[in-house]
Amino acid sequence: MQAVILVGGQGTRLRPLTSTVPKPVLPLVDRPFIAYMLQWLLRHGVDDVIMSCGFLASSVRNVLGDGSRYGLRLRFAEEPDPRGTAGALKFAEPMLDERFLMLNGDVLTDIDLSAEVRQHEASKAKATLALVPVPDPSAYGLVHLNSGNAVLDFVEKPSPDQIDTNLISAGAYVLEREVLKLVPPDRKVSIEREVWPLLVGDGLYGYPSESYWLDIGTPDRYLKATFDIIEGNVATGVMERLGRDYLSIAQGAQVEGRAVPPAIIEGGVHVRRDAHVGSLAVLGKNVSIAEGATVERAVVLDGTEVGRGCVLRNCIVAAGCRIGDRSEIVGGAVLGEGVSIGSDNVIAGGARISASVSIPDGAITFET
Ligand code: GDD
Ligand code: MG
Repeated sequence: MQAVILVGGQGTRLRPLTSTVPKPVLPLVDRPFIAYMLQWLLRHGVDDVIMSCGFLASSVRNVLGDGSRYGLRLRFAEEPDPRGTAGALKFAEPMLDERFLMLNGDVLTDIDLSAEVRQHEASKAKATLALVPVPDPSAYGLVHLNSGNAVLDFVEKPSPDQIDTNLISAGAYVLEREVLKLVPPDRKVSIEREVWPLLVGDGLYGYPSESYWLDIGTPDRYLKATFDIIEGNVATGVMERLGRDYLSIAQGAQVEGRAVPPAIIEGGVHVRRDAHVGSLAVLGKNVSIAEGATVERAVVLDGTEVGRGCVLRNCIVAAGCRIGDRSEIVGGAVLGEGVSIGSDNVIAGGARISASVSIPDGAITFET
């Protein structure tokens, strides 16, 4: 089976993490984000994947290679300019089979794609959209179905008065190649706004699912995805290394302080005396956590150094950062790659610190 993954978006809502690393290859727990999608596709018999990209395509290609590491064939379709979700597909048309899957490249899910394909076939659909319920559909594509699962209406980014169901498009489609006839070539086209409406009543079906599903497009959701993976709320390959105690300390890590599961601690990490890591923490390779520091509900990527008595809670710290003694990184803050925070700072309130920025000692505090 063939699949096209759309990864051409710029990932602006995940900045500063995505200013140095494109979203598809951003590390999530212990592997590039897109690896979760590839492993999920592989479990459903996909062996041929086309990555539809534009933005930073070469670095995506460098990390993923030809796919052999993941056990499938991987090819790249690089648009000359962003073509939108349908335009990108049209651009990849020469590579496409009669029937294929199309996936938004920013969702973490274990939806049963095999069952979706079976329904698609049984209903003789032209396009089948996987659907999931979410509490707030406003950021997604809202779908109404009839009792036979035919789509009655598709509303992209509905306004509050248009929201009367919680079922949205999960960004996982089964498509027949003939759908491409509806897409004009060589220009930007949105599949959600320009193609689905044309197929309503003419072969567009929904496949409602209760599976785990999350769009990882914001820092909050990136953290939620991290925690759900290490708690085992979503079926991923990470479970194999977490084992029954939900704690994975890689060989070569040195933990003198306390590690509380669920947590992942990679090789070369040093957690010093009286430091406290977890629950819900991921420490990338060669991270060092000094005496008395606390890291919980947080992600700290490769090579970052955390000073004595620091508190990191509800935050994401990219690779190669240095955090001075007694500083607090809390409240949804995100530090880009190579940031240096002096001692005695408080970074909170969803602050996003751009890559390579330096903040002197005691420069930022918050009234409490
Ligand atoms: N190649 C390419 N070219 N890919 C693109 C382009 C483009 O011009 N524009 C967006 N993409 C990719 C993004 O990288 C992402 O993986 C996917 O297409 C969807 O784009 P988003 O920008 O993330 O859209 P969204 O999240 O607001 O909405 C979409 O996803 C929802 C589910 O998460 C829509 O498909 C909604 O209907 C859906 O509910
Ligand atoms: Mg998205």
